[in-house]
Amino acid sequence: MNLNTNFKTILVTGGAGFIGSNFIRYLFEKVQYDGKIVNVDKLTYAGNLENLADIDKKFRGKQYFFEKADICDYEAIDTIFSNYRPDCVIHFAAESHVDRSIHGPKDFIYTNIIGTFNLLEACRKWWDNSSYRFHHISTDEVYGSLGETGYFYETTAYDPRSPYSASKASSDHLVSAYSHTYGLNVTISNCSNNYGPYQFPEKLIPLMILNMLEEKPLPVYGDGKNVRDWLYVEDHCSGVWMVVNNGKNGETYNIGGENEWFNIDLVNKLCEIVAVKKGKQIDYYKKLLTFVKDRPGHDRRYAINCDKIKHELGWKQSVTFDEGLDKTVDWYLNNQKWIENVKSGQYTRWLEMQYKV
Ligand code: NAD
Ligand code: DAU
Repeated sequence: MNLNTNFKTILVTGGAGFIGSNFIRYLFEKVQYDGKIVNVDKLTYAGNLENLADIDKKFRGKQYFFEKADICDYEAIDTIFSNYRPDCVIHFAAESHVDRSIHGPKDFIYTNIIGTFNLLEACRKWWDNSSYRFHHISTDEVYGSLGETGYFYETTAYDPRSPYSASKASSDHLVSAYSHTYGLNVTISNCSNNYGPYQFPEKLIPLMILNMLEEKPLPVYGDGKNVRDWLYVEDHCSGVWMVVNNGKNGETYNIGGENEWFNIDLVNKLCEIVAVKKGKQIDYYKKLLTFVKDRPGHDRRYAINCDKIKHELGWKQSVTFDEGLDKTVDWYLNNQKWIENVKSGQYTRWLEMQYKV
């Protein structure tokens, strides 16, 4: 499908995080985007410039620009708009981890709600061209929790249950409101659980891989029968790019993996993949499996229906789960330095607080 890739300067927020850094890499390496990208990131514990060190080296000052800024600081955002005059904003920046939102919701309210509001206000102030676009990255968690059957559709009523998902739902509503009230050209995408390289190891898949490598317990919440729909991060990036370019103004698009797994089955599968790659017996890491206290308000099942983006924009997943997990495990096994650097930050303190070990 031909994309209307006319944007000259794209402001990407949260580009030093997991999905944002994969997205910037995708634009430069896969799309060969020839405009400018301004990465605006506060560099919280989850932001890591190492994720884009090679991109920075190759494109900095020509096509790639980094601005360390907090989206909660309106003056800083206003200055960035004034300096770069972006014609597209792709908004990834957020506090993204559900467990952290349970331990301390405040940062989620500020960044995810006030930060999004500030970006919308800057667009309202600086943009007088209706083809300029604001794209908001959101989550399937805004739709709540499913029973054993059924799917989340774009029309499913919002029913967020954690401080994280409530803050994302709130920001989605603000984005829609700016479209209806001020005529801002917006799109929203709600996606399922991403996995792949550069994911901070507080999330299930990288946490399990790192714990296996250290032969530490593999903490499975509750009965392990919660279900998540896993999407390879580069497939998410291609979906976002299609929506940004060809999505209809004011519309929401679901992006999912159509790949549902019980947590316990996924962790067992990971144990086997890592065991093979490390030359161990197939069941070697399974002895580390440990059922722990459940996450409060733990959503039982997520499953996305993504027919709309498939039929309207021609998107589809390109990576099978076996391929995606294989690439992901290889990436963590081959990037020990990245892991060591992440662990030398606040990572260990968070794990101690989380599991009281
Ligand atoms: P992440 O936690 O890895 O990265 C978030 C990035 O935002 C970091 O670089 C961080 O420094 C930056 N950031 C945080 N607060 C900021 C602030 N106040 N100002 C500027 N920058 C700030 O998150 P992720 O997993 O890459 O998620 C990206 C987006 O995708 C989020 O909006 C998240 O809600 C959404 N999402 C994620 C998933 C997933 O599975 N990871 C699934 C659905 C939706
Ligand atoms: O669905 C999209 C969402 O996916 C995104 O909006 C969030 O930003 C992202 O963090 C993710 O949320 P989850 O809570 O689903 O992801 P997490 O990796 O934290 O957990 C996945 C599942 O695994 C969930 O059912 C909880 C469980 N889990 C998680 C961890 C960290 C465990 O059993 N043990 C663990 O140690």
